[in-house]
Amino acid sequence: MEKTNRGSFKGSIGFVLAAAGSAVGLGNIWRFPYLAARDGGGIFLLVYLILAITFGFTMLTSETAIGRKTKQSPLTAYSKLKKGWGWLGIFASIVPFMIMPYYCVIGGWVLKYFIAFLTGQGTKTAEDTYFTGFITAQYEPIVMLLIFLLVCAVIIYVGVEGGIERFSKIIMPVLLVLVIGIAIYSLTLKSTNDAGVKVTGLQGLKVLFIPNFKGMTFKSLGMVIMDAMGQLFYSLSVAMGIMIAYGSYVKDEDNLVKAVNQIEIFDTAVAFLAGIMIIPAVYVFMGTDGMAAGPSLMFVALPKIFVAMGPIGNIVGTLFFAMVLFAAITSAISILEAIVSSLIDRFGMSRQKATIIESILALIIAVIVCLGYNVLYFEVKLPNGSVAQILDIMDYISNNVLMPVVAIGTCILVGWIVKPKTVIEELTKNGERFGRKPLYIVMIKFISPLLLVILLLMSLGIL
Ligand code: PHE
Repeated sequence: MEKTNRGSFKGSIGFVLAAAGSAVGLGNIWRFPYLAARDGGGIFLLVYLILAITFGFTMLTSETAIGRKTKQSPLTAYSKLKKGWGWLGIFASIVPFMIMPYYCVIGGWVLKYFIAFLTGQGTKTAEDTYFTGFITAQYEPIVMLLIFLLVCAVIIYVGVEGGIERFSKIIMPVLLVLVIGIAIYSLTLKSTNDAGVKVTGLQGLKVLFIPNFKGMTFKSLGMVIMDAMGQLFYSLSVAMGIMIAYGSYVKDEDNLVKAVNQIEIFDTAVAFLAGIMIIPAVYVFMGTDGMAAGPSLMFVALPKIFVAMGPIGNIVGTLFFAMVLFAAITSAISILEAIVSSLIDRFGMSRQKATIIESILALIIAVIVCLGYNVLYFEVKLPNGSVAQILDIMDYISNNVLMPVVAIGTCILVGWIVKPKTVIEELTKNGERFGRKPLYIVMIKFISPLLLVILLLMSLGIL
């Protein structure tokens, strides 16, 4: 079954940038900052950091190692690792299959905002009805998602080295420069608020970094830990087969321990930078109230802030949405690759055929997701209390239910069935040093599965 023409990353840098491209996405830029603001600033950051170097590292290490060891896609890797565990592969491939359509819909929204700012219409996007008006429109969201999906499909069609690796190597450095540039600019902002008090970006930075223990209870700290963990999961692109697919393209002689460290650092750095970019700006123009914007932060609150910046706001907004668009594309291609590689490995399809089939399927479902905001509109209440449309339901099932299940399965398989030594041997087969080995063993066997079960029970509304 093993084919020699599966393709591979030319070098470790290519793998690191591609994996970081997957990891750095809407989660870092839009979700991380508002969670940090909501969950006590510095407290959240600290909890997140601790979990990143323990839990996040464990998951990322396991998946990339499984990928490289088996040289298989998510759908076929688990059963190759251990007979009878193919079901986990099926679960792990359903996740990207579910995420791909709605990720493209959101990618289309980002594209729309980028075009609006680029063509000097930024002021319009700040109007109160703009966002809802756009997503409930009949055709435009579909056109935008189609363009977004097409770009991703072309990259995947070309292949691992010429498509994913080459694209990531160009885009990721540009993305980093943009994030750093906008973050620095955000810190220099100042304005006078309604009460006549001068507020500065640096004061906003304090809101992000200084722990706010006000009203913090044991229970709310537990919530912060679970929020951080859910975020980490999503942010590192684990539990959805992606890192297995990418890991399977890493050459045997590359140092996987080092690569995993670099991916972690890249992802965490961009999340923190996104916080530095967004929170001070929100603070200067909207005060602490603006932070409560939650999910609507990116499409509703930020445009208002760009407009408040005056004429320069159009340029900052254009650069900002360009950066978000890059982040979204490099994430979407990784989702697509997880599915395409599965079709190739399991059914022996050519890359081209697999890409076309999956793109059409994703398109059909994505159109249904778009219609969920107009002709198919309905409201459902989810177990976690939020009111949902089609997009939110798919997001809930994939992120809150399936991903924890896949991660728990991975922990049990690696920790107790094939044993951590399988992963450790893969990581150190060229004599690499694996500094966090004792930590890895404790995490994969005991702590990670325990935390994950709690997370799952909370998502289901049982805890
Ligand atoms: N990791 C990406 C982020 O932080 C999100 C993502 C989700 C990427 C699903 C791939 C698949 O936004």
